[in-house]
Amino acid sequence: MKRVKALPYTNWVLELEKAELDECVASLESGQVLYFPKLDFSVEEKEKANFSSELVSKDRKNISYDPLKDELKGCSGGFETQDVIHQMMKRYSSVVNEFVHSLFPEYKDHLTLARTSFRPVEIEGREAPSYRKNDTLLHVDSFPSSPTGGMRILRFFTNVNPFNKPRVWRVGEPYEAVAKRFLKEIKKPFPLSRVVMEKLGITKSYRILYDHYMLGIHNSMKADQNYQKEVDQERVEFPTGSSWTCFTDQVSHAVVSGQYVFEQSFYLSLEGLKHKESSPLGIMEKLLKQKVTV
Ligand code: SIN
Ligand code: FE
Repeated sequence: MKRVKALPYTNWVLELEKAELDECVASLESGQVLYFPKLDFSVEEKEKANFSSELVSKDRKNISYDPLKDELKGCSGGFETQDVIHQMMKRYSSVVNEFVHSLFPEYKDHLTLARTSFRPVEIEGREAPSYRKNDTLLHVDSFPSSPTGGMRILRFFTNVNPFNKPRVWRVGEPYEAVAKRFLKEIKKPFPLSRVVMEKLGITKSYRILYDHYMLGIHNSMKADQNYQKEVDQERVEFPTGSSWTCFTDQVSHAVVSGQYVFEQSFYLSLEGLKHKESSPLGIMEKLLKQKVTV
């Protein structure tokens, strides 16, 4: 199976035939990256004039926007700059939300719009606070304090680099191969530890077994330097003016270089999936021979 599937859409509002829609969902759920080489988000001149790596507040990686609260976080600069960036991210979020709904209409009742992020800092040479937070290492997405409770993480990206610099990723092996390799070395959680973590606010909600093993896989992948080098992988370049999307909890990915990228996150509940057996949860339950939703 090819890791990346290129699609010719140039318009943020799609009207596709059923067969084409079904194929997009099947590709996405099988763990491919859907890549739109000519799907550009137009940034206005006054917005571009504010582009700088200094836009991000000191203690953060990215500027974050919450479309549900219409709230911007992590943007430095004066009121005017903040307002320009706020409006730009709001527009991106809305355009992507519409696109994703027109590309996956059958997800409609199962899809939740989450955070938008703008990433104006060059990846190459950036220091990560720890290896676990280092996204230049191959990983599947899983976040220690935010268990998804089994929900899927769907992310949509657009490269808006004004200097034609591509966003470069490495894409690794299929999820089943990743899980086969790492699941066996992950210990079961200590009894009650997950209840305690939720009570103390270490996790924002209860970490189900699925979250526990996903985080274990995420950490083990990043910790294994040999795996990072030796595993079957492909370098993929996403040029300025292109967009791409995938389930980042399924696609093994690492960011290599690039600057000025948008990302819009969504959560998809398991009931929304067309092919549950190919999801990380389906594969995990098959390999572990047990339910992981507890
Ligand atoms: C990641 O999701 O690990 C980083 C992707 C990116 O910023 O290009
Ligand atoms: Fe990631």
